[in-house]
Amino acid sequence: MAIDQSMKQHLLQRINDRTAVVGVIGLGYVGLPLAVEFAKAGFHVIGYDVSERVTALLMRGESHIQDVSKAEVAALVKSGHLEATTDESRLHDADAISIAVPTPLSKTRDPDMSYVIAATDAATRQAHPGMLVVLESTTYPGTTREVMLPAFTEKGLTVGEDIFLAFSPERVDPGNPKYHTKNTPKVVGGITPNCTEVATALYASCIDTIVPVASTEAAELVKLLENTFRSVNIGLVNEMAIVCDKLGVDVWDVIDAAATKPFGFMKFTPGPGIGGHCIPLDPHYLAWKMRTLNYKTRFIDLASEINSEMPAFVVEKVAHALNDERKAVNGSRVLVIGVAYKKDIDDMRESPALDVMRLLEERGATVAYHDPHVPSFREDGHVFTGVALSDEELGRADAVVIVTDHSSVDYQRIVDGASVVVDARNVTARLRPSRARIVALSTAPAPGGAAAPAPSTAPRREAVTAR
Ligand SMILES: NC(=O)c1ccc[n+]([C@@H]2O[C@H](COP(=O)([O-])OP(=O)(O)OC[C@H]3O[C@@H](n4cnc5c(N)ncnc54)[C@H](O)[C@@H]3O)[C@@H](O)[C@H]2O)c1
Repeated sequence: MAIDQSMKQHLLQRINDRTAVVGVIGLGYVGLPLAVEFAKAGFHVIGYDVSERVTALLMRGESHIQDVSKAEVAALVKSGHLEATTDESRLHDADAISIAVPTPLSKTRDPDMSYVIAATDAATRQAHPGMLVVLESTTYPGTTREVMLPAFTEKGLTVGEDIFLAFSPERVDPGNPKYHTKNTPKVVGGITPNCTEVATALYASCIDTIVPVASTEAAELVKLLENTFRSVNIGLVNEMAIVCDKLGVDVWDVIDAAATKPFGFMKFTPGPGIGGHCIPLDPHYLAWKMRTLNYKTRFIDLASEINSEMPAFVVEKVAHALNDERKAVNGSRVLVIGVAYKKDIDDMRESPALDVMRLLEERGATVAYHDPHVPSFREDGHVFTGVALSDEELGRADAVVIVTDHSSVDYQRIVDGASVVVDARNVTARLRPSRARIVALSTAPAPGGAAAPAPSTAPRREAVTAR
């Protein structure tokens, strides 16, 4: 017992005086900002990634993550606080390891745990008594205890006594100007109270608020509740857009008015679908786990169904808008504005724009895109290269469809230069009168009749019902 206590005290002491070395496995959207926070707190940080490209770039003082500046990385590498390596054995020097590797879904939408297992294997190989290991990757409840714990016990380490194991969900919101790694409260749940205590001490060194919970399962579920909450509410508001479209009511008007209620309502907005590494995927981790316990998570399934139908809803809008111009989708040129999954970031993962583009191409359209954050991208072996937002591009497009509402795009120019604009994000609502016929996700008919052109003093917004 005295030895166990000294292990914990020794680690707490090293965390407290910043002599602890912190390892981070996986230097992506989550791992790099975390590594930077640890380094800024005064620890020596060993960032381990399997990508030679990523580690070499970081060691040159550059950054591949939009929310982490090149200057910050360069200064931390230069001062010796941050190193990036593909050499797994460097992790042996670490007193604490945070794991932030991908947790995708397989083709059958089951959890793909291969990255977590590979990272756990690396951490286990390099583990030594007195080490803390924390999983940050979003995953199903039970992962830390069922997948990671046996790996360490098989090595002869006793968790909570001579090795400490915890789960702490990463909640980073890429592109958020207000909340980032340091000022977003961090939930921590350990396998034992000692594990929670040590993990809390580590994160408290660089994150403003720590929220300890009773177990690793509780910590795993916190993240899944948060993202399921978002998925379900976005699904609800997307369904409301379809409802409003069928009723000839402007959904944005309804939402804005509902949001004036000072209690009991939280504003979510409809759109072309959901994207990113979290909201479309994470709830399925929970759904999968519950299937193994013979329980069907109905909210998750329904929200996923509605959200994944939104790209087709938007494409129907384009088809009807073209039809009103006596044009077919087949042979038309469609310019997609914004392909990142949300505004002001460069992340394409699970972006609904990919579905919108694919569905338009399947119907014979020629599709071009403009995105100030994504100059080019690769999908299914194809390389897509964006076009500049020129008068020529706007003029030659039979329809423009706004999928992602990046702040830096000149929407006035779009509605002035294009003939038909399908606006899935309501960014054109407050623009000057324009040449373009604007089709919103759902729009109220003009006073006095269905789908009549609006007065010429405002951009024309019409209801085109996607059937
Ligand atoms: N991106 C987000 O906004 C976000 C937010 C909250 C939580 N998360 C969760 O965090 C986790 C990581 O997501 P991300 O967006 O940072 O992923 P990412 O793809 O941006 O980064 C993952 C990194 O891990 C590296 N990697 C993969 N396998 C490895 C291994 N065995 N050893 C070492 N490095 C390895 C990859 O090369 C890559 O650089 C996921 O579980 C995700 O769900 C992501």
